[in-house]
Amino acid sequence: MRPLIAGNWKMHGNLREAVRLAEGLREGVDGVDLLVCPPFVHLHPVAVVALGSRVAVGAQDCHAAGKGAHTGDVSAAMVRDTGATHVILGHSERRQNHAETDASVMAKTEAALAAGLIPVVCVGETEAERLAGRAEAVVTEQLAGSIPYGFITAGGIVAYEPVWAIGTGRTPTEEEVAAIHATMRHALVESFGPAARTTRLLYGGSVKPGNAAGIFALEHVDGALVGGASLVAADFLAIARAVPE
Ligand code: 13P
Repeated sequence: MRPLIAGNWKMHGNLREAVRLAEGLREGVDGVDLLVCPPFVHLHPVAVVALGSRVAVGAQDCHAAGKGAHTGDVSAAMVRDTGATHVILGHSERRQNHAETDASVMAKTEAALAAGLIPVVCVGETEAERLAGRAEAVVTEQLAGSIPYGFITAGGIVAYEPVWAIGTGRTPTEEEVAAIHATMRHALVESFGPAARTTRLLYGGSVKPGNAAGIFALEHVDGALVGGASLVAADFLAIARAVPE
């Protein structure tokens, strides 16, 4: 499976920085797909820079409704219209800061698929849940609640992001990542059949050039969703180059 290295730019940078960062990635990395996810307002200019390159562009969220009186929200079709092809959904920062639930993530994922976007659905346990030995149960439950029918065949992507590893410099051990990814693969194949063997499963949470190779070598890890290190072109490309040939 061709690996995907995705950058979640979160709420960072101004327009000039976003364009410059995208320009720095245009050359791409052989054998790896790149995806960058800027804030909504930078989607179109970044998509213009990425046009004809090996870099795809995605949003960080979308609304579940097609249109309507939803002040401040952005529909999946609007995201698609910017030139973006992907959308991150159910990121733990959205689940925490905007009270998103599995059901709302499911509805947004359905809207994204209907608009022709490839969803990147995020799951992951909190530190308390991991310490309570519930990490695999939490992730399995989130997958069951937020992945709709049609996701697998449309090329939907899943990102495992343990909440306590995001922006902290801490990561699970390679054994812990491998165990969750094997659990996710098993759960998806059980629910959706053998097509789910080709669903990309990304790891996210403090991925850096220095720890990327070890993570990418694990079975059922098909790439990464990178936060902080995706804001520096050289670091993001170094992570992509760490993918085994
Ligand atoms: P960091 O790579 O900064 O830990 O962020 C991970 C993340 O949340 C990507 O979506």
